Amino acid sequence: PRDGPAGRAVIVGSGLIGRSWAMVFASGGFKVILYDIVQQQITSALENISKQMRELEKSGMLKGTLSAEKQFSLIHGCSDLKEALEGATFIQECTPENLELKKKIFGQLDLMVNDDIIISSSTSCLLPTKLFTGLKHVKQCIVAHPVNPPYFVPLVELVPHPETDPSTVEKTYALMKKIGQSPVKLTREIDGFVLNRLQYAVISEAWRLVGEGIVSPTDLDLVMSDGLGMRYAFIGPLETMHLNAEGIKNYCERYREGMIRVLKTFGPVPEFSGEIEQKINQAMCENIPVEDIPKSINARREWRDECLAGLAKLKTQMKFN
Ligand code: NAI
Repeated sequence: PRDGPAGRAVIVGSGLIGRSWAMVFASGGFKVILYDIVQQQITSALENISKQMRELEKSGMLKGTLSAEKQFSLIHGCSDLKEALEGATFIQECTPENLELKKKIFGQLDLMVNDDIIISSSTSCLLPTKLFTGLKHVKQCIVAHPVNPPYFVPLVELVPHPETDPSTVEKTYALMKKIGQSPVKLTREIDGFVLNRLQYAVISEAWRLVGEGIVSPTDLDLVMSDGLGMRYAFIGPLETMHLNAEGIKNYCERYREGMIRVLKTFGPVPEFSGEIEQKINQAMCENIPVEDIPKSINARREWRDECLAGLAKLKTQMKFN
């Protein structure tokens, strides 16, 4: 079979993120080729995807308009890279987070692709200039950083290399929209991109507050899950400001001084080690042991994914009009 109605995507690396991307592309009607250097990874990815799609269909959480069976029939494994790339319009690279390995893979791809295909990397931390500089097809390269699991958390950060063609950004943006993701564009690369910079700001203050004994680790997490996080699933921090006063200007008038005063009391960057690490680890392991009973952490992960699936559904029902 040739292309799906939407186009043909090649997933390079069929691990955790590659599998989820495959499902996302299939839900958008793409023909998907799953490639990996380890044949067993392709086999287990296909089994896992088939099972997940059937379960999602049963619970009414399957994305897209096609049936699970139809979506699954769009996905094929392939262990030959050249063959995998035939007729492809988009490559989503999902190999381990290792610069040398990824550079090698992009070097290989660079020799095999035409001038139209888009080469996109799932990297969480590696900058486009590190990954793509010197490639013949650098204009067609971009980072599309997903959030785990991309099937339920739609955000994708698009990060261009300085030489990425604007049309590559636009095409990737449109494609991500089409497959139901929520793309955002960075105008240039920055360490940590945006999501992790925000996340690390939160983690570091959490670490300091627990470290200073002001709040327990479990209570700290509640402040997010039952407080800030409730609204952040629907509106961001900037819109929160806008709505929590009579607009941004009014919010700044009211809270500017207070924000600056509090922010000036923030401590230095934590070491993320030693006593505080021990304390947080102990608190987390009390409820969710990691070592002896991997079952409990896996159960908690499954529950988290169910929550995210439910939230994704709720968010589509709650669209503002
Ligand atoms: P993983 O370890 O689950 O999967 C990596 C896959 O790549 C494996 O199946 C492996 O056999 C395959 N592989 C290794 N060398 C290869 C090669 N030369 N050619 C083709 N396939 C090869 O890793 P995971 O977690 O799926 O991460 C993949 C990428 O996604 C990383 O860059 C990571 O930073 C990024 N990412 C991961 C997130 C996460 O939460 N796990 C979230 C967002 C991005």
